[in-house]
Amino acid sequence: MPQRKQRLEKQDPPSVVTMNGYLDELDITVVEEGFTTKDLLEGLLKEASQSGSQEAFFVADLGDVVKKHLRLLKALPRVKPFYAVKCNRSKGVVQMLASLGVGFGCTSKPELALVKSVGVSVDRIICTGPCKQMSQIRYAASQGVQLMTFDNEVELGKVARSHPTARMILSLATDESKSPGCPSVTFGATLKSCRHLLETAKDMNMEVVGVSFHIGRGFTDTQIFTQSIADARLVFEMGAELGYKMRLLDIGGGFPGAKEAKGCFEETTTVVNSALDLYFPEGCGVEIIAELGRYYVDLAFTFVVNIVGKKEVPLDQPGSDDEEPGGKKSFVYHLNDGVYGSFSSVIFNNTCPVPVLHKKLSPDPPLYNSSLWGPTGDNLDRIAEGMELPELHVGDWLIFETMGAYTGPASSSLSGEQPARIYYAMSRVAWEAVQLLQGKLLLPEEEDQESTCAPLSCGWEITETLCVTPVFAPASIM
Ligand SMILES: Cc1ncc(COP(=O)(O)O)c(C=O)c1O
Repeated sequence: MPQRKQRLEKQDPPSVVTMNGYLDELDITVVEEGFTTKDLLEGLLKEASQSGSQEAFFVADLGDVVKKHLRLLKALPRVKPFYAVKCNRSKGVVQMLASLGVGFGCTSKPELALVKSVGVSVDRIICTGPCKQMSQIRYAASQGVQLMTFDNEVELGKVARSHPTARMILSLATDESKSPGCPSVTFGATLKSCRHLLETAKDMNMEVVGVSFHIGRGFTDTQIFTQSIADARLVFEMGAELGYKMRLLDIGGGFPGAKEAKGCFEETTTVVNSALDLYFPEGCGVEIIAELGRYYVDLAFTFVVNIVGKKEVPLDQPGSDDEEPGGKKSFVYHLNDGVYGSFSSVIFNNTCPVPVLHKKLSPDPPLYNSSLWGPTGDNLDRIAEGMELPELHVGDWLIFETMGAYTGPASSSLSGEQPARIYYAMSRVAWEAVQLLQGKLLLPEEEDQESTCAPLSCGWEITETLCVTPVFAPASIM
């Protein structure tokens, strides 16, 4: 596996390596210990100021994606990870996860084409959209993708007509009161309707191989996983009564990825493990997968955007005690990306992005009520308001962290602009962990040794640094 890699010291310019296999043609800057992605960002901003560029851009720390993957394998040892591509369609993320042996959930033809273009085999792809366009079903069939979800008769009928040999996964609704991010009206069949759907599938000669559910973001009670896994068990039993040999359980996504949510992640995985052991004990012949989105990418992406317009407006506070002569100042700033582009999560996910200021300021500068807007002038294109910020200027850069999930890289820009460029980076230790995992992935005969395998010579040190024990390639799912 020839690679171009250079040692990068803190004072050196970042090195760019090109990895082979799934990571072909992906330029990744590998940063040495003590040289963080923040340093890389500083370097990029310096370059931008030298060249006069004001284009917004992302820095993606793929090392964080790798770290999340290893943490997941440790926290949910019986679960094979899949990635919900709609969460962030950037090629670098898809390539990195493919190289780690992750499977993919695709909701559209372009997502399917992207995953295929990276070289992922069809047995690692599931078509997960709740309402698949016929052309997508036909495309999936032409590509040999077999696994598809359904939660109603119409969807089942569409697949039966266009892809009769598909293997279906029945999507089950979750308790909406505890899972506000996933309303059951748009996703999942009720437990009551499952028997009828299974009978309909039988009448249509469709094979049903498993059950899925998805706990949406913002769930309030981790016991919703226990309830959903118990419900899935009931559907497996209904299926068995009808003669189906179901062997796949997909526990969906919803796992948080932000730094402050680590405790919630650990609590959730403990609950999931107990419920799996109770309802789908080891050796029961059911393969368990999860389809995670935000968990993998949220923290990894930092967005850097430029102020392209500024307006001073009087803050209308008649009679207020701090009213200054001539009114208190407030500022409206326009950025060169907005909710129709990389800040789409403001609308779709109700997020409130908070900027980090790039420029150095005098200590305790005066603060002004400020609002941030996108470039379109549309009154929906509001990114954030009511913030107390020092006075900023056109040309200043703002940095937004935790911007990986359901943001710009998730979609082509609605504003018609080119999506912001993404610079990929990762630490050397994470890069070496990927090489190690790829080595394992390329040696299938070693998969059999999973339970007894001694640690690889340098595996422990690398993965210890990443806070996890060594992991091995999951067996192919079916
Ligand atoms: C069916 C399904 N599975 C998985 C996901 C991924 O969810 P998350 O990004 O919260 O992990 C989604 C996201 O909407 C989904 O609809």
